[in-house]
Amino acid sequence: MPAKNLEIMPLRPIGRSGPLVSRFGLGTMTFGSETSEDEAHRQLDLFTAAGGTLIDTADVYGAGASEEIIGRWAAQRTGGYDDLILATKARFAPPPNSAGASWRGLRIALEASLLRLRAEAIDIYFIHGWDQKTSIDETLSTLADFVAEGNIHHVAWSNLSGWQLQKIVSHARAHRLPVPVALQPQYNLLDRTIEIEVLPCCAEEGIGLTPWSPLGGGWLTGKYSPDERPTGATRLGEDPDRGVEAYDRRNTDRTWRILLELREVAAELVRQPGHVALAWLADRPCVSAPLLGARTVAQLSDNLAAANFVLPAEHTERLTRASAPGLPAYPYGFLRDWSELDIWRTLGTENQE
Ligand SMILES: NC(=O)c1ccc[n+]([C@@H]2O[C@H](COP(=O)([O-])OP(=O)(O)OC[C@H]3O[C@@H](n4cnc5c(N)ncnc54)[C@H](OP(=O)(O)O)[C@@H]3O)[C@@H](O)[C@H]2O)c1
Repeated sequence: MPAKNLEIMPLRPIGRSGPLVSRFGLGTMTFGSETSEDEAHRQLDLFTAAGGTLIDTADVYGAGASEEIIGRWAAQRTGGYDDLILATKARFAPPPNSAGASWRGLRIALEASLLRLRAEAIDIYFIHGWDQKTSIDETLSTLADFVAEGNIHHVAWSNLSGWQLQKIVSHARAHRLPVPVALQPQYNLLDRTIEIEVLPCCAEEGIGLTPWSPLGGGWLTGKYSPDERPTGATRLGEDPDRGVEAYDRRNTDRTWRILLELREVAAELVRQPGHVALAWLADRPCVSAPLLGARTVAQLSDNLAAANFVLPAEHTERLTRASAPGLPAYPYGFLRDWSELDIWRTLGTENQE
């Protein structure tokens, strides 16, 4: 039964051949680290009550704790995972089992994930990143065996460049191995690099995106400022050098220009900047389900207020223009003019200011 005042999220397919999933997925990278088990279980309850169906985790989140927390939640839930789409990832297991995306690495990783998650099968099994040491054929053949055994239902990848994704898809099609249904890249108003090579490949091959860091790790809520280094219980307050969202990396004129436009659009629409950023991303081409990340139930509840929010075309266009990263003139400028690839037209031009 949906909780009072919660809007129920619509469902949409992942790519051309993936399952139906809710418009936003739940990311669980904080479970077992910034987020306690009790708070995590309440996030899962809230998300599913709002019609959320896609739950995304990885074997490495909290060194396995995220999967265990989800597993204990599902075990006491009526119907367990029956009405959900469960996604996890493998590839970066620490030693002694760090065998990448090889047969051995994936066999060990899958068995451990199924046990921690207390699941009979994984709906979408993501390979967490490229593995230079393992042939694509070995990885895809192993995944084909997992599908045949009923242990996974769909394969997917994360963090690839355009040529890597195309190479995997072409090999899979040529050898009748499982074709990825989804890609999980970083994608948000502050980082649109995937629009140059990765997104056109997804459009061509019918692959759906489940973007990570839809709020740029918190930046797009508007909580950071150019004048003050972050403090307190936030990602960058605890570790300003953390990951792609590191304060010194993002503290640029470009970031503040995008945030200014975001704030203006949000004020006009009487919305919070974070809601606008989530809505912009959810309706970009090829996007199936951005993954909501939250430390607390209050943050998740706040983000779910954008679950059904659709930006007016005029505001989408303003944000797309303000966040255009600039398409390198060569070869892309030439190719854009010849091929009329629509997505490249939204990237602006090199050296724009
Ligand atoms: N495949 C990959 O390589 C990869 C990489 C990263 C993430 N992921 C997946 O993507 C999911 C989402 O990524 P993400 O966590 O980076 O997403 P995000 O939405 O960009 O950032 C989430 C963080 O922003 C802050 N935040 C969220 N909502 C807020 C609100 N309403 N008000 C204020 N602050 C708020 C919280 O951090 P603080 O409160 O701590 O500041 C929260 O942990 C992850 O859980 C994971 O499942 C995948």
